[in-house]
Amino acid sequence: MKIIIINGPNLNLLGKREPDVYGSETFEDYFSKLQFKFKDIELEYFQSNIEGELISKIQETGFSYDGIVLNAAAYTHTSVGIGDAVKAVETPVIEVHISNTHQREEFRHVSYISPAATGVILGFGLKSYDLAIESFLF
Ligand code: DQA
Repeated sequence: MKIIIINGPNLNLLGKREPDVYGSETFEDYFSKLQFKFKDIELEYFQSNIEGELISKIQETGFSYDGIVLNAAAYTHTSVGIGDAVKAVETPVIEVHISNTHQREEFRHVSYISPAATGVILGFGLKSYDLAIESFLF
């Protein structure tokens, strides 16, 4: 089974960025733990701050991988293009957020990804990614 985690803008700063909201662990450290936990899954990780690169990666993996775990970060609330890419591909996409976006500012309550996503997991901290991967296992 092949699954890719795709992270959007500013998520390369996890660990340093607003630790009260996003925690103090880097994504690289967390990703190593995920790889250890899900040894039987071929897990990949891609991060970009650039909208078009996220779209290209969704297109590139969306017809051959078994799952995409997507945290489009701020683009979640603005990007028709990423929403369309999620709609266009065959691979199931689970939308993930670290924080509970519904407890935050109103502009974060809107998602252009959710209507096209297979499922949405949010608010569990980094564990949201863990739960998204688990969802592919049953
Ligand atoms: C986020 C929530 C978004 O609103 C925000 O712009 C992010 C991270 C989350 O994982 O909680 O960058 O997607």
